[in-house]
Amino acid sequence: MGKIWVLHGPNLNLLGRREPDKYGTQTLDEINKELLHKAYTAGIPIQVEQTNFEGELIQWIHSMGPDDFLIINPGAWTHYSYAVRDAITSVQVPAIEVHLSNIHAREEFRKTSVIAPVCCGQISGLGGKSYSLALDYALEALTQK
Ligand code: DQA
Repeated sequence: MGKIWVLHGPNLNLLGRREPDKYGTQTLDEINKELLHKAYTAGIPIQVEQTNFEGELIQWIHSMGPDDFLIINPGAWTHYSYAVRDAITSVQVPAIEVHLSNIHAREEFRKTSVIAPVCCGQISGLGGKSYSLALDYALEALTQK
């Protein structure tokens, strides 16, 4: 059975106090608890990580197995990290890109994602719900395997 990975990129450890008008007041811990609970209830293994170091994120992606599923909020790396994009295509795991804020309704530079083209889809702008909807999809995908 595959595992679901939820990887949070830079600055997301500060959720709750980081620009709450854009990212809401939920802390990363609160978001993670909901995700862990949902996956445990469904009986699907889940691993949740956050890092401010690009190489560390890439190492986690490299360690993914062929039946795993990736839910990723790459933070600002979304907009320019070809290294994160290449890591996803290198391991060929299905991935969903998520964002708390609607990146298409913000500054111009945020409207481009170099990651989305190598993902099955993108969920953006629904706050913590962006993650839980991505998890619903991943749980369905893994239980159908
Ligand atoms: C974000 C959007 C990015 O543009 C930003 O750099 C983040 C958070 C989001 O979840 O809305 O760090 O990924």
